[in-house]
Amino acid sequence: MTVTILFAAHSLWDEYREVFPAALAAAGIAAQVVTEAADPAAVDYIIYAPNAPLQDFTPFTRTKAVLNLWAGVERIVGNATLTQPLCRMVDIGLTEGMVEWVVGHTLRHHLGMDRHIVNPARVWDPTCPPLARERPVAMLGMGALGLACARALMALNFPVTGWSRTEKTGLGLPCLHGEDGLKQALSGAEIVVTLLPKTPDTENLLDARRIGWMRKGAVILNPGRGPLIDDEALLAALDSGQIGHATLDVFRVEPLPKDHPFWAHPRVTVTPHIAADTRAITAAQVLVENIRRGEAGQPFVNLVDRARGY
Ligand code: NDP
Ligand code: OXD
Repeated sequence: MTVTILFAAHSLWDEYREVFPAALAAAGIAAQVVTEAADPAAVDYIIYAPNAPLQDFTPFTRTKAVLNLWAGVERIVGNATLTQPLCRMVDIGLTEGMVEWVVGHTLRHHLGMDRHIVNPARVWDPTCPPLARERPVAMLGMGALGLACARALMALNFPVTGWSRTEKTGLGLPCLHGEDGLKQALSGAEIVVTLLPKTPDTENLLDARRIGWMRKGAVILNPGRGPLIDDEALLAALDSGQIGHATLDVFRVEPLPKDHPFWAHPRVTVTPHIAADTRAITAAQVLVENIRRGEAGQPFVNLVDRARGY
């Protein structure tokens, strides 16, 4: 039996046109991969990305799953026409990229690299930075990415405290939850990393009140989603010195508009949503594993829970 797969993430097709059919063949799955569905009712699986033109899933009556190429699903999870199971991307390449971005930017701030990289006055300041073991980090989000980043930072001796929606034990680090847990995590950290999905519960999570719980001069790294932080509250906290620096990879509007104050702020670093990217070579294996499961009648992996929004 041949499965029909609609690759609806058109802008990414060039990256997948060879590796995806090859991964299907290697798994012994007979498949026809198309980029346009002549008959939506004949499509078994849809490969999706948030910028795909496909918005109405109603005619895809036989589709067993929609497989999102992105980790974040906020732009599809609320689509009322989507009744098919939705799986998000958990990809080793994506995770490695995020670990590198988070570790790199943590070390930049921890070591105070900027003052040596740009030092026009040739100041000889022999002050050594503290050791990582003296620099507490809070990781907001203990999912696929947050946990991997926490572990990488812990391998460098940073004391990391995690925070997530549900209670967690046995991860090898303190993991808090709830509002009291958030206060404890934020007030105990000098560097705060936000690796949460955008949901109604996480929007403006870092507002003026909670930013006020943070240590004076703390650093925020946000590779999660722009709306996790209240922009105005962050700018005010940067101006007052409550926040020492914000390194931001994600924004409410992307590309970040040229006149947005983040661009010009001396204590904001903007990276253009490059913290991590799904890598076709490894992501193709993840897609194929879910198709294999679907064909074998087994539960999908990385299934999105519509009610919680991630
Ligand atoms: P996961 O779904 O694996 O993890 C999400 C984590 O957030 C979980 O620990 C979850 O808690 C926690 N969480 C969710 N809602 C809440 C809440 N209301 N309060 C507290 N904790 C909450 O996601 P990933 O780790 O794979 O990805 C995280 C996000 O990273 C993505 O949603 C996306 O927005 C972003 N991302 C950014 C990229 C970039 O290039 N900048 C690339 C890829 C992803 P629990 O464990 O209890 O469920
Ligand atoms: C993702 C992203 O969610 O790239 O995968 O932000």
